[in-house]
Amino acid sequence: MHEVTLGMNGTTEDIIVLRDLSKVYKDGVEVLALDRINLDIAAGEFVAIVGPSGSGKSTLLNMVGLLDTPTSGQILLKGIDVSRASPNERARLRNKELGFVFQYHHLIPEFTALENVMMPMLIAGKKESEARVRARELLVSVGLGERMDNRPNQLSGGQSQRVAVARALVNGPSIVIGDELTGNLDTKSSQLIYDLLRDLNKRINQTFILVTHDMVLAEKTDRIIRIVDGRIVCEMRRQGDEFVASEKCDLGEDGGEIRRD
Ligand SMILES: Nc1ncnc2c1ncn2[C@@H]1O[C@H](COP(=O)(O)OP(=O)(O)OP(=O)(O)O)[C@@H](O)[C@H]1O
Ligand SMILES: [Mg+2]
Repeated sequence: MHEVTLGMNGTTEDIIVLRDLSKVYKDGVEVLALDRINLDIAAGEFVAIVGPSGSGKSTLLNMVGLLDTPTSGQILLKGIDVSRASPNERARLRNKELGFVFQYHHLIPEFTALENVMMPMLIAGKKESEARVRARELLVSVGLGERMDNRPNQLSGGQSQRVAVARALVNGPSIVIGDELTGNLDTKSSQLIYDLLRDLNKRINQTFILVTHDMVLAEKTDRIIRIVDGRIVCEMRRQGDEFVASEKCDLGEDGGEIRRD
């Protein structure tokens, strides 16, 4: 890893900068899953990534989350080029800088909610007493103060996802990424989770990048990035209650409406 000078719009306040990022899957038929993506995400942004199935949303999140490596291009995390960091270094950065919430909560069934939330802190080498205090605080802040000692099978789907959100936050990550994190929840629970994330974004300036198929949920964020065939085709930003498309938008036939897939 080495420090790089940021060009274009990148500033050191950008937590994530992607430069001409491409990903080709080569198992069997070659698939160009990401095609020269350029994207800057600043600290405190609340971002949704939308687009049709197979458009490259998960691939993009896997890049930002340092779960996979690009075929070409750069990923800068807090100004440092991590595109070709070793697996060990990527694992260290994931634990320290990134929080993850997936469609399935991936909580450890034998552990209580509290123990599940403490786990990333223990992996980071923090003291158990410190982890316990922090995990308790976070569970209270996601509305689960009364459920800390329940195991995942004693929690509802929405409650389990709240635990997963608390776990994602426990090491104070620079960025939290979520891939269809409400994909298994009903509409009301999904909206409550997004309201919770919105609240955390405002309260602690937590940066979120969330993939969703659901435009109603995407419209709860501040910035919507639409991907089609591995390219960013449109970006919209909140201005008050409205979303305004950037000049770069290739809106095609829908003429400015936010598309609902
Ligand atoms: N491990 C892989 N090996 C080969 N091809 C892959 C792999 N993962 C994804 N792809 C392909 O890359 C493209 C982008 O996939 P990706 O999973 O990023 O889409 P997505 O936008 O997340 O879709 P969905 O909304 O269905 O989750 C698709 O054509 C997919 O088939
Ligand atoms: Mg996906």
